[in-house]
Amino acid sequence: MEYEEPLFFRVMEYAAHADGDIIDMVSGNPDWGSPPALAAGLHQYADTGGREFQYPPSEGLRELREEIAQRRQVDSDQVIVTNGAGEANYLAMGRALERGAGSEVVMTDPVYPYYPGKTNMLGGDQVYVETARDGRLDPADVREVVSEETACIMATTPNNPTGAVYGEDTMRELVAIAEEHDALLVSDEVYDHFDFSGHFTSALEFDSDHRVVVNAFSKSMAITGFRVGYCVAPPDHVGPMKSRHMLTNVATTRPGQAAVLHALTETGPAYYQENRQRLAERVETFTDALDDAGAEYTKPDGGFYVLARFPDFPGTLENTFELVDEAGVAGMPGSGFGTAREDWLRFALVTPRVEAAAQRLADYFADR
Ligand SMILES: Cc1ncc(COP(=O)(O)O)c(C=O)c1O
Repeated sequence: MEYEEPLFFRVMEYAAHADGDIIDMVSGNPDWGSPPALAAGLHQYADTGGREFQYPPSEGLRELREEIAQRRQVDSDQVIVTNGAGEANYLAMGRALERGAGSEVVMTDPVYPYYPGKTNMLGGDQVYVETARDGRLDPADVREVVSEETACIMATTPNNPTGAVYGEDTMRELVAIAEEHDALLVSDEVYDHFDFSGHFTSALEFDSDHRVVVNAFSKSMAITGFRVGYCVAPPDHVGPMKSRHMLTNVATTRPGQAAVLHALTETGPAYYQENRQRLAERVETFTDALDDAGAEYTKPDGGFYVLARFPDFPGTLENTFELVDEAGVAGMPGSGFGTAREDWLRFALVTPRVEAAAQRLADYFADR
């Protein structure tokens, strides 16, 4: 397998070496800081040593799994603590494809780009389903593309890059489709704390042997560098997924797990509410300015991202670089997310300078 440099690495690299002040709206790294209890948990951990510095149980610290299980109202035997949501997706997709229940992975276009990458790595075949202009996924369209070859259906809610939030009916249907086709629905809910619509529904709401829920603390606690996530898997699948996790990673980071456990128990809802509110305000600020710039955009119902399209300015890599050099704003080309939004650009609202960025874009397009 060749090394494939993710497109966002290239854009970040370009922006890092560009002249002048560049507002970075490329990555999904939250800028709002972690809950204070996280650092406290890490300090406490640092003072332990000895046995506490050795291998944790492969499937995760028992206390952390129990804490997650209690919050998600599942049995702790169903929880595997992973190296972020990224590994949890890999375990679930790997399980779906190794079962002999098909070779196809159904995913939306626009798509979070690591799904097609992982599908290739696992020897599966990509099958795409289009979404509505605002990112809504119609389960009837999923029904059109599923077959007896379907091993896995990927759902991302709230969605990266569209910002769509799938409601209860959609999630119920997606679980039902997975059941009817003996496939696994993998519901990637890493942005679940950033639902502005109030319609977010976890796939955990629907008891089924055909759904795996993926999540992480990367975004909710602003710790993308810690690498602590988890999946909740049905009893029949959890064993093989634990094996894959053990053989690939041995375990995930023990200091990270200890700190997350402490932060989970010590952090109240205000931390999450404040961050959600801040992000919702950034969406308003940014989209108002996009209106002034004459752009078309998808207003997100959740998550960190806004997809936008400017008149006569397709969101190619070349134009992305042009915006870095001439407007001082770095976004992502739409071609990084499948084919449906190749003309668009994606902007991550993880900077306090959202208003300045939008003004720069408006000025640049006014002068063009
Ligand atoms: C939809 C989606 N899933 C998974 C991930 C990876 O999450 P983690 O950093 O927890 O591996 C991201 C990161 O941006 C994402 O957008």
